[in-house]
Amino acid sequence: MPIYKFPDNFKWGSATSAHQIEGDSHNDWTEWEKSDKRMAELKAKKLNPGDFISGKACDSYNRYEEDFDIAKKLNHNIHRFSIEWSRIEPEEGRFDSDAMQHYINVVKALRGRGIEPMITLWHFTNPVWFAKKGGFINIDSPKYFTRYVKYVVEHLKSDVHLWITFNEAMTVYSGFSFLNSIWPPQYKSILKWRRVNKNIIRSHIEVYKEIRRIYGSSESPTDLDRGKGHSTIGSSFEGGAGDMSHNVSIGLTESMTWSIGGNNFYEKIIGKVYNYYRNLHFWYKAFPYYDFLGLNYYHIDRRVPGSYKVLPRQDWWMEDMGWEIYPKGIYNVLKQLKRFNRPVYITENGIADSKDLTRERYIKEHLRWVWQAIQDGVDVQGYFYWSLLDNFEWQHGHTPRFGLVEVDYKTFERRIRPSALEYAKICITNQLEADL
Ligand code: BGC
Repeated sequence: MPIYKFPDNFKWGSATSAHQIEGDSHNDWTEWEKSDKRMAELKAKKLNPGDFISGKACDSYNRYEEDFDIAKKLNHNIHRFSIEWSRIEPEEGRFDSDAMQHYINVVKALRGRGIEPMITLWHFTNPVWFAKKGGFINIDSPKYFTRYVKYVVEHLKSDVHLWITFNEAMTVYSGFSFLNSIWPPQYKSILKWRRVNKNIIRSHIEVYKEIRRIYGSSESPTDLDRGKGHSTIGSSFEGGAGDMSHNVSIGLTESMTWSIGGNNFYEKIIGKVYNYYRNLHFWYKAFPYYDFLGLNYYHIDRRVPGSYKVLPRQDWWMEDMGWEIYPKGIYNVLKQLKRFNRPVYITENGIADSKDLTRERYIKEHLRWVWQAIQDGVDVQGYFYWSLLDNFEWQHGHTPRFGLVEVDYKTFERRIRPSALEYAKICITNQLEADL
């Protein structure tokens, strides 16, 4: 059977986000999900509003130790999770030291199990006070966001070396919330969408510099531009000792897709433009202010951009999400990222598959293409399956089941799925053995 060996020090793990697993949040999403507008929308679609309330989610705020025991058992050596801003700063300027202590404990719980933490500072949700000020429409949003980040990073700097500022803020959030009216605050405005993107870039750059200042590094990534700098990751971070001033790596995570298809010359050209603009625009905007690129990849877009025609369904489909699966797409987008001369982490890749019928195949086929990208010179340093647990899947509620681990939302019992054990073999051997 063919063996695909991954580089030494390659990181293996899974990812989660605070609002989707912790439970009992109080933020702009929890306000919106019980609003009259949202209720009416769901009823009009003949859906039961109760199925779309995040509620206790997986109750991981209380059960994180159990979750990390499972991650350890599954041989994960890295774990990506997010911090919920609305817990840290529930009211403007009031920082909650108990909530901070909670996340300090979370990090210790990971380290105690030999798992490296990677922290996302923002994953879609906002404190209610911030949302009331317009969120990222507000010209001062970078100031508010930086103040929160400073507080968090100062408390965690000795134990955390990998930070992600924003998750899919420009490829998913700004469009869903300000252009397509799907997520709160449900605007439909090109102007607002553009303003939000601009403020998110400003916030990212400001926070990037602030975190580096806290770690005692220079504010600009000039060393990286000369092609050095990040290679220490994985080696010097392991022991956690030594000169901490350079032990920080700050990235940005965005989602990338790949458009295939096109029936004529015009559609093919539009597809090429789409792949370029949709996937690369924000990386150029934020350049050079990131030490690594976080890639979330799930599916392709068969719709031909520009023509708004949906091409016939092909081979492999993620029913619960309406996504078409195309493992080679991850290779295509990784190759696109090579130009930025930065290491890449696959910060999310996964499938909603409640019966666990094709999760193993999904993981293996994508990893085979990740391996190919590494052979072709892309510096991929780690892979995070989305997600460790079944969780609250935003506008889709609790139906889609992405977890390596099944969660019973009534009893909160966790059950490891068979595919998780297959992934665990890859994690421990640092290689994929598969006939693909
Ligand atoms: C998001 C996750 C989400 C996943 C599956 C990503 O866009 O970062 O929060 O659960 O996709 O939809």
